[in-house]
Amino acid sequence: MADTYRCVTLARFVDGLPGPDDFNIETRQVPEPGDGEVLVRNIYASLDPGGRTRLSGGVSYIPPLALGDVAGGFNIGQVVKSNNTGFSTGDLVVGAFGWSEMGLSNGRGYFAKIEDWDLPLSAWIGVLGIPGLTAYFGLKRVAGIGAGETALVTSAAGMVGATAAQIAKILGCRVIGVAGGSVKCAWLRDELGLDAVIDYKTAGDLSTAINETAPEGIDILFDNVGNRFVDAILPLMRLNGRIVVSGQIGDYNLATKDIHGIKNTRAFITHRVRMEGLVVFDDRPQFSAAQAEMAAWIKAGKLIYREKIYEGIECAPQAFRDMFEGTYFGRHLVRLAPEP
Ligand SMILES: NC(=O)c1ccc[n+]([C@@H]2O[C@H](COP(=O)([O-])OP(=O)(O)OC[C@H]3O[C@@H](n4cnc5c(N)ncnc54)[C@H](OP(=O)(O)O)[C@@H]3O)[C@@H](O)[C@H]2O)c1
Repeated sequence: MADTYRCVTLARFVDGLPGPDDFNIETRQVPEPGDGEVLVRNIYASLDPGGRTRLSGGVSYIPPLALGDVAGGFNIGQVVKSNNTGFSTGDLVVGAFGWSEMGLSNGRGYFAKIEDWDLPLSAWIGVLGIPGLTAYFGLKRVAGIGAGETALVTSAAGMVGATAAQIAKILGCRVIGVAGGSVKCAWLRDELGLDAVIDYKTAGDLSTAINETAPEGIDILFDNVGNRFVDAILPLMRLNGRIVVSGQIGDYNLATKDIHGIKNTRAFITHRVRMEGLVVFDDRPQFSAAQAEMAAWIKAGKLIYREKIYEGIECAPQAFRDMFEGTYFGRHLVRLAPEP
């Protein structure tokens, strides 16, 4: 094993859209695991929109990065040395080491062995990882989804959105997806079988387009984009509608003063609408059960997913930017080492 590895660190606080100049690629010495620690060689690292909220020095639900810190993300990796009785050399694990070729864990926190080998390894960082679980718990716990309802999902071609849209279909809902561009919309309609798809880039007024597609109104809005979309859809919510605030990718790169406000609040009263956000880690005790149910859907061909895989750690900053620009779609990953 080489005695150095590479990682991507924050070079300067990010203003607006992140890009390669905001990060450094550093070479560091491979650490020796201490008592109870596990050394992991990462095979994949993920690019996560929520990671943007930590790059400008401001406060989020997780602390911001300091300059020189490794950029955040999730990993699939293989244990190369272990001083922890719960893990052995060769174990495949999921963790949160960030954009780094190696990681050191004390075995606690978001770190677990992958026990089910029937699915591609990368599924455990995507459809069965944090994005897929966000879709699952956003719909099941936060929205309390029921058969026969109409669900609308924004950024529907992303990993969270596409998973949410398919779970809502599996659970018996009429599902409308909102996405940008004809390729993404065709995939949602033809491959995922959504009931209706709206290309927000060409649809003109979004409220009008949704109203034409769902004149009966929306029971569940699963929103990944932010206030601009929420405000447009609020007047279309049905009685006892639920808005799941999954993410705000359309707002993450904006200064606070430039973020769209929400004006159409009257629907909260007239239509008893509820709006609630989630941090998926609150559902951690139920992750395994959810993953088992979703794995069965994948094996049955009911839940499909897309990935855009970049090769090599030096691609991470550009891949992160591409994700915000919507250049590709599906889970954005960087492959750091060959799968065993
Ligand atoms: N609450 C939680 O615990 C939790 C956990 C994980 C993720 N999340 C959130 O879930 C959301 C989706 O995550 P993901 O990983 O699946 O990413 P994603 O939806 O694939 O994000 C990339 C896509 O966002 C869309 N987008 C970017 N800027 C936009 C804008 N200004 N307006 C409209 N759409 C825009 C683009 O799609 P189009 O080309 O279609 O516009 C782009 O392809 C994120 O907001 C993330 O923060 C929440």
